[in-house]
Amino acid sequence: MDIPGYVTNAKLRSWVEEMVALCKPDHVHWCDGTQDEYDRLCEQMVESGTFMRLNAGKRPNSFLTRSDPGDVARVEDRTFICSRRKIDAGPTNNWVHPGEMKETLAGLFNGCMRGRTMYVIPFSMGPLGSPIAHTGVELTDSPYVAVSMRIMTRMGRAVYDALGHDGEFIPCMHSVGMPLEPGQQDVSWPCNKENKYIVHFPEERAIWSYGSGYGGNALLGKKCFALRIASVLARDEGWLAEHMLILGVENPEGEKTYVAAAFPSACGKTNFAMLIPPADFQEEGWKVTTVGDDIAWIKPGADGKLYAINPESGFFGVAPGTSVTSNPNAMASIRANTIFTNVALTDDGDVWWEGMTEEPPAHLIDWMGQDWTPGSNRKVAHPNARFTAPISQCPVIDAAADDPQGVPITAFIFGGRRANTVPLVYQAFNWNYGVYAAATMGSETTAAAAGKLGEVRRDPFAMLPFIGYHMADYFNHWLNFGRNLPNPPRIFCVNWFRRDANGHFLWPGFGDNMRILKWIVERARGRATSIESPIGWMPRYEDLDWRGMPGFSRQLFNELMSVDRNAWQQELLSHEEMFMKLYDRLPKELVFIRELILSSLWRSPERWGLAPE
Ligand code: GTP
Ligand code: SPV
Ligand code: MN
Repeated sequence: MDIPGYVTNAKLRSWVEEMVALCKPDHVHWCDGTQDEYDRLCEQMVESGTFMRLNAGKRPNSFLTRSDPGDVARVEDRTFICSRRKIDAGPTNNWVHPGEMKETLAGLFNGCMRGRTMYVIPFSMGPLGSPIAHTGVELTDSPYVAVSMRIMTRMGRAVYDALGHDGEFIPCMHSVGMPLEPGQQDVSWPCNKENKYIVHFPEERAIWSYGSGYGGNALLGKKCFALRIASVLARDEGWLAEHMLILGVENPEGEKTYVAAAFPSACGKTNFAMLIPPADFQEEGWKVTTVGDDIAWIKPGADGKLYAINPESGFFGVAPGTSVTSNPNAMASIRANTIFTNVALTDDGDVWWEGMTEEPPAHLIDWMGQDWTPGSNRKVAHPNARFTAPISQCPVIDAAADDPQGVPITAFIFGGRRANTVPLVYQAFNWNYGVYAAATMGSETTAAAAGKLGEVRRDPFAMLPFIGYHMADYFNHWLNFGRNLPNPPRIFCVNWFRRDANGHFLWPGFGDNMRILKWIVERARGRATSIESPIGWMPRYEDLDWRGMPGFSRQLFNELMSVDRNAWQQELLSHEEMFMKLYDRLPKELVFIRELILSSLWRSPERWGLAPE
């Protein structure tokens, strides 16, 4: 194998040599990250049948790909945190001893790239040279991963240069796990149907992923590095790696406030990150701008403030439900240069999915390649179908989105998908209460992960599948982190998904979330008024801006905000259940705050509510 002369990093050179010897690819391709390389790889995938080029008039330079029907989402039950000691992975992670796992992986990866090309993908998570950024190199036998990584990360030759002779990088090994025998015909979406392993070695800071070509399983910069491994770095080095969007709010006076918000997978981060304020707000001068839609890396600055970057440079967003009504900025972001996975194909060579338009087209090809008409009794796009698009195409990208210093964070927002119990919005009484609320957050499961749908589970900080160590230590890290800040960000909880007795959403959501966001921003700056509820500070009807929404009554709002003692008792029981699992390392604060909330509930009316007027 010839290693290009410009790759001078000694560790990288010897690691690639070692991995080539193990995986035995037919060829090795050192990615340079150029447009030309991207175009050639896409064209090659069109020829091999992996990609379909979309109608250039409607969707320029864009492609559709269909995954194997068994490889459509993250596989949480095949995801492992292999710390030396089981206790350090904690009870919420799958664990196998690193020695044993390495033996398994050595067997799986031996010759796994036969008949294929290994792509060497150098990437930076965050602006190159940012003090908050970190570097990785992914080796993969999937050209789909190579082109996706060019969209999702800062990928290319500049990373080799920045690494120099002895720079540090996170090694990320990936294979679809389907070697080709001589003469064997390839399939359009190679993967391994029997064996999938998404493995992290937190002490060594290494990632090995086998058998899947999809999303978070395969684009290793994303969940594996930027969340699971980075959460370990963050714990050790005193920062935060979070499953959070970052957005900027500009008020009519031109004052800018940045907030970071954690919602579980497929619970509205992309929508909230590029929210379009209601007309009255816009006319007055309110603007929302996007820094990121999925991951935030947050480090304390010398001035005591927190600075956040989006380590990614693209969107890997949920397609179904995205439309010019629900999210016009996302629709604009994917108008060209986009890779669509598992969406439907229209007769004129464009894409479609549930919710894109009110009326479905009369004929489509579904995500499995079958004919589909509106009478067909099945989904035409997979519920976890996604688009991969450069963040630079977002019409409301924030001016500081590329700033190596990051943006200052004034508030954290946590929000699950809850049909009942949890009010539309409240502010935690203080940092510890905020950590409690985030730690005990529940949410209904979605199609983003393989498994059961719609069950409420605890998803602390929206990080249940992404914490690379013991969850109770993670809670402790958050408590300590706030304690060391002179003026920590205020913490808020939201629930856009509360439903009435007939199962209808009580809150219109989307752009109207601006009303809540405005209160949050004002509140974090100490300006908005509120009232004390048993669980936190709450806006009353008169504390929110209702311009342009005359139909939304005080009564309806009060229903959205009510706190029912019986429902919350159940809620607190399920907090307790989680605490029991984490007992040996659970911070005491959380135990006492649970008691305090319980006593507040008992000293309030059985169904606590805002005054009816
Ligand atoms: P990942 O990329 O999986 O981490 O998730 P995400 O949080 O970015 O998910 P996304 O924004 O794509 O969530 C999409 C889902 O949230 C769709 O089902 C939307 O309809 C729904 N959604 C987003 N915002 C709102 C809202 O304000 N109200 C309601 N009811 N649904 C919303
Ligand atoms: C999520 O599941 O939270 C995602 C999609 O953002 S994936 O990258 O596939 O994990
Ligand atoms: Mn996510």
